[in-house]
Amino acid sequence: MTTKGIILAGGSGTRLHPLTAAFSKQLQPVYDKPMIYYPLSTLMMAGIREVLIISTPQDTPVFERLLGDGSRFGISLSYAIQDEPRGIADAFRVGQDFIGTSPVCLILGDNVFYGKLDFLRNALTSNVGATVFGYTVTDPHRYGVVELDAAGNVVSIEEKPQQPRSNLAIPGLYVYSNDVVDIASSLAPGRRGELEITDVHRAYMERGALHVHPLGRGIAWLDTGTPESLLDASTFIHAIEKRQGLKIGCLEEVALNQGFLTIDTFRESVRKLPQSDYRAYCESLIAMQ
Ligand code: TTP
Repeated sequence: MTTKGIILAGGSGTRLHPLTAAFSKQLQPVYDKPMIYYPLSTLMMAGIREVLIISTPQDTPVFERLLGDGSRFGISLSYAIQDEPRGIADAFRVGQDFIGTSPVCLILGDNVFYGKLDFLRNALTSNVGATVFGYTVTDPHRYGVVELDAAGNVVSIEEKPQQPRSNLAIPGLYVYSNDVVDIASSLAPGRRGELEITDVHRAYMERGALHVHPLGRGIAWLDTGTPESLLDASTFIHAIEKRQGLKIGCLEEVALNQGFLTIDTFRESVRKLPQSDYRAYCESLIAMQ
C-alpha cells in the first residue's frame, strides 16, 4: 500500500519570536523559499504524492493559499487544523481520517534535509513497525536521543535528556506502519503536557519493532527553530544554490523529475508563476528538456 505523508506545521514557534508573532515558523523564508517547501520536497522526492498539512487555525488557510490542492505539483494536498499544540504524536489523531489504512511518513515542517534520499526510500519500502533515523549532533539535549548497542539495537530512547547517553539525535522524519494510529491514540500526555513522539517510539521499542538507521555524514539535516539555525539553513541553501546554479526544494522541478508532472503540465504550472528568478529557473529546465 502506498505511504501517505503528513507535514506537521503548527506549534507556537516561541523561540523565533517576534518573527512568529504574526505568521508561522514554517512560512518563514529559508533563503529563497518558504520553509515548508523543503519538507514537502523531501516527501515528494521519496515518491509520496498524497500529503496532509497540519497547522494552527490561523495559519492553515495561509498554507492553503500558498500551496493549493497540490495539482500544480502533480500531487494531492489536504489540510487539517490542530487547535492546540498538543504535541507531535497528536498528528496521528488529527490525521486519522486522512491516514485511513495506509502506512504513514511524518515530517516536521521545520526540518530541512539535503543529500541522497535513498535512506528514506528504503525505509518506505521495507518498514514494518517504525523506522526512525539517527544523526550525530553536538547538542543532543535539544532532541529525542537514541542509544544503540554494537549490533545497532536500540538500548534507550529519551526526549530532550539533560544528560544524553549518546550524540545520536532523532531527526523529525519518521516512517510508520498503520498501527501508529492506535499507538498514538492510547498515549497520555507526558510531563510537558504534550503527546510525545518519543513515547510512540518507546511503544514500538517495547514490541521490538523500532528500527533506527543512523544517517551518514553525506546527509545534511538542518533544523530551523531558532534565529541562528534559521540563518544557518538559509546560508547553507544559498551557498549550494549559488555554486551549482541548481535550486534545492523547487517543487515544480521535483514534480517533473519524479514524473508527477509531464513536460506539458510542468509548462502549464510555470506559465502561472509571476516573473521572478524562480520562474526563470523553471523556464531554464524546459529549455534543457
Ligand atoms: P517544536 O520546534 O518542538 O515547537 P514549536 O514549533 O512550537 O517551537 P518553539 O519550541 O520555539 O515554541 O516543534 C517541532 C515541529 O512540530 C514544528 O514544525 C512545529 C510542529 N508542532 C506542531 O505542529 N504541533 C505541536 O503540537 C508541536 C509540539 C509541534
